[in-house]
Amino acid sequence: MTVTIVGSQLGDEGKGRVVDLLGEPADVVVRYQGGDNAGHTVVDGDTKYKLSLVPSGAIRGKVGLLGNGVVINPRTFFDEVDGLREQGLDPTVKMAKRAHVIMPYHRAIDGIEEAAKADSDLEAGTTGRGIGPTYEDKAGRRGIRIGDLLDSTVLRERLEYVMPHKRALYEEVYGGDPGAAFDIEALFEEFSEFGERIRSEGLAVDVGTYLEDRIAAGDRVMLEGAQGTSLDIDHGIYPYVTSSNPTAGYASTGSGLGVTEVGQGSVIGVIKAYLSRVGTGPLPTELDGDLAEYIREEGGEYGTVTGRPRRVGHLDMPMLRTATRANGFTDIAINHLDVLAGLDEVKVGHAYEHDGETRDTMPATTERWGECEPVYRTFEGWSDVDWEAVAATGFKALPEPAKEYVSYIEAELGVPAVALGLGPARETAIVREDPWA
Ligand code: IMP
Repeated sequence: MTVTIVGSQLGDEGKGRVVDLLGEPADVVVRYQGGDNAGHTVVDGDTKYKLSLVPSGAIRGKVGLLGNGVVINPRTFFDEVDGLREQGLDPTVKMAKRAHVIMPYHRAIDGIEEAAKADSDLEAGTTGRGIGPTYEDKAGRRGIRIGDLLDSTVLRERLEYVMPHKRALYEEVYGGDPGAAFDIEALFEEFSEFGERIRSEGLAVDVGTYLEDRIAAGDRVMLEGAQGTSLDIDHGIYPYVTSSNPTAGYASTGSGLGVTEVGQGSVIGVIKAYLSRVGTGPLPTELDGDLAEYIREEGGEYGTVTGRPRRVGHLDMPMLRTATRANGFTDIAINHLDVLAGLDEVKVGHAYEHDGETRDTMPATTERWGECEPVYRTFEGWSDVDWEAVAATGFKALPEPAKEYVSYIEAELGVPAVALGLGPARETAIVREDPWA
């Protein structure tokens, strides 16, 4: 049995905490796309774990898997695993032999290409982790996979093939001065060592087969998306997107499980009660001034990976309707309801006005999206209360206006909210339905 968790907006919806909250009965937690551009914060008592590659479930004693759809930077991976070990945890994390490796030159190219694009306002505001260049090489059939790190002949062949291409791009297109990140011998040495460590710790597996066996044995599998639907390279606000597919269909492709297997389980869309955005591009419900500042501070809206202050906006319902269709959500989870507490009123972008028409969903091009004028609905605000006490009692204890807000979102999307986040800790969440039941 599977449960899939997907971001329904622009990333940072609090997927990690939903995985943590609903993942208790899971035996295995799988990431199916993205890389160390993702940031998950998991709070356990007084301890905060900031993870970017290790699936959040791995800190709760579950097997964590990085599927073939993930791009893996071994430097980040081992730093993170070693850091968790220093904090007294011993996570079991395995990675797909088919997953592609983020090499130092991918990061270098990510940085120099973004700098070049800045002149034309086309930069995506990437996390600088080399995600796009790695997926480009995957699609261009010149990538290096985890399985290649285990075979020094293949690793050398791949490096020798790819390096003239990378050096030419860096030097001749972008005018950079390639350094150690482009040095075949240095890379061969470092990445062979990673291969050795992966082999000696038994970390590389054929994830699809591994999962099939676990499911056959009765295990429960949680599939954890990174980023969000509007950052999806196909369904998002291209070109201000990430280079993978956070949407639910990729939970199958990026893990090796069949779509029918994934489709038998719940697909839960995680929603932040307002909008936040790191990166560039239009944002029709964007806020500025005091209200933006208030939400940014209350919600701690600073990037987990980059520390950048996030842009914030009102909830965008056309974005959520679009995400519900693209993913086929069976349920939703709404986070950060506590952040909006204390406001006199809460506005929601209910629809858009565009070209004299009212739209309920996002247009297919980002340029038209940028022209959309939100049509707002205003809800009564709710006061700040003891959220732990509310969570202990359940949904009926929520302030009435917050209940109305949740009911409105459920009714508009036609799916139930199975979990509500009222603060970062486990004790400040309401679970209304068990997705594994
Ligand atoms: P990249 O994934 O680093 O290539 O960045 C592409 C776009 O996705 C940029 O706008 C980033 O800010 C955004 N992005 C990537 N990962 C995350 C995330 O985990 N949360 C929010 N935005 C992200």
